[in-house]
Amino acid sequence: MGASAIHSAEDARRLARRRLPWMVFDYIDGSAGSEAGAARNRAALDATTLRPRILQDVSQRSLATTLFGQTAQRPFGIAPMGMCNLSAPGADLMLARLAARHSIPLGVSTVASTPMEEIIVEAEGNAWFQLYFSGDGSGTVKLVERAKAAGYDTLVLTVDVPEVGRRPRELRHGFRMPFRIGPRQFIDFALHPRWSLTSLAHGRPQMANFLMEGYEFDRTESRAKATWETLARLRDQWGGRLVVKGVLDVEDAIALKAAGVDAIQVSSHGARQLDSAPSPFQMLPEIRKAVGADFPLFYDSGLRTGEDVTKALIAGADFTFFGRILLFAIAAAGEAGLQQLWDVLSDEMSITMAQIGACSPGDLR
Ligand SMILES: Cc1cc2nc3c(=O)[nH]c(=O)nc-3n(C[C@H](O)[C@H](O)[C@H](O)COP(=O)(O)O)c2cc1C
Repeated sequence: MGASAIHSAEDARRLARRRLPWMVFDYIDGSAGSEAGAARNRAALDATTLRPRILQDVSQRSLATTLFGQTAQRPFGIAPMGMCNLSAPGADLMLARLAARHSIPLGVSTVASTPMEEIIVEAEGNAWFQLYFSGDGSGTVKLVERAKAAGYDTLVLTVDVPEVGRRPRELRHGFRMPFRIGPRQFIDFALHPRWSLTSLAHGRPQMANFLMEGYEFDRTESRAKATWETLARLRDQWGGRLVVKGVLDVEDAIALKAAGVDAIQVSSHGARQLDSAPSPFQMLPEIRKAVGADFPLFYDSGLRTGEDVTKALIAGADFTFFGRILLFAIAAAGEAGLQQLWDVLSDEMSITMAQIGACSPGDLR
C-alpha cells in the first residue's frame, strides 16, 4: 500500500501512525496540555458551514493567488516545522521540491533537520526562514545574517513560544533533541523496524542549522526575553519582508501593524502551545476587522482539508499553511505520498469552490 491509499489527511495520519515509532508520531501529532485547545479549534472549523450556490458557471477554476506580489499556485503553503526528517529521511527536501513545483512558500524552521542553505536551493527560492528569538538574542542575530546570505527574502518571526508548551504525549516518550535511545526508545524503534532501518541508517536527524561552528541552540532554552523592543530591532536589522507568526489577540495585531511588519500569521502553533488559547479560526474575522481589508493576513492551525482552507479564506485570511498532515503523508508513503495528499487537498478545494459558486480564491473574500 502506498500513496494511492491516501484519499484524505486522515488516511495519511492513520498510515503514519502504523509506521512511525510512538515517540515520533506523538511528537508530530501531539498538542499542548489536555489537547482541549486542538479540539476547540477543530470544533469551530467543523461547526462552520459553507452555503452551496447553484447554476453559476464555475467551469473555469484556478487555485492560484497573489502572495507578496507574486503568483502562488495554491492559496496554501507549508508551515515551518522542526525536525521534519523524523517523519522520513529527506523530508525537508521533499517539502522543498513540493514548494518549487507549486510556487508556494515553505517555512524553514530554525530547528530544521536540513541546513537552511540546502533547503532554499532545492525549493528554488520558494522558502521563508522562520526565526526563534532565543537566550540573549546574540545567536538570533547571527541566524538572521546567515538567512540573508543564503538568499532568504522573507523572515517569519514566531512569537508564541516564550517557553516551549508542555505536550504530555511528547514528554511521556522522553522526546528530546538530540534524542537518546534508552530502553524505552529501543523497544519503540524495534517494533517499528521499517522506520528504524531507513531513518537510523541515514544517521539520527539533527538540528542542522546548528552543526556549523559558532551556532548553538537548546530547544528547551527560554525564549522569554523577547519584547516589542526586540521586534523593533529586528525590523531595523532586516530589510526583507517580516511576517510575525502566532498571533491570537486583536490588540497585538494592531500593534504589529503599527510596528511595520509586512504580514501577520494568526496561529495557535497547531494547538501546541497554550491549551486554553481561543480558537485561532474564531479569532481570524476579528483580527481581519482590526487590521483592515488590505493588510496581509495569514492563517494556520487545524487545517485538514481543502474545505477548511476555503473557510479560512472566507473568514479573512489571504493565505494559509498546512502543518503536521504533510509530515504524516511523508511518513505514510514518502514523496509520492506527499504529492498525493497535496493533490487531494487541491482537489478538495477546487471542488468546494465549484459547489459554492467560486472560481478562484479571490472570489472568497
Ligand atoms: C512537528 C511540528 C513541529 C513544529 N515546529 C515548528 C517550528 O519549529 N517553528 C514554528 O514556528 N512552528 C512550528 N510548528 C507549528 C507549525 O508551524 C504550524 O503552526 C502548525 O503545525 C499548524 O497547525 P497544523 O499542524 O494543525 O496544521 C510545528 C508544528 C509541528 C506539528
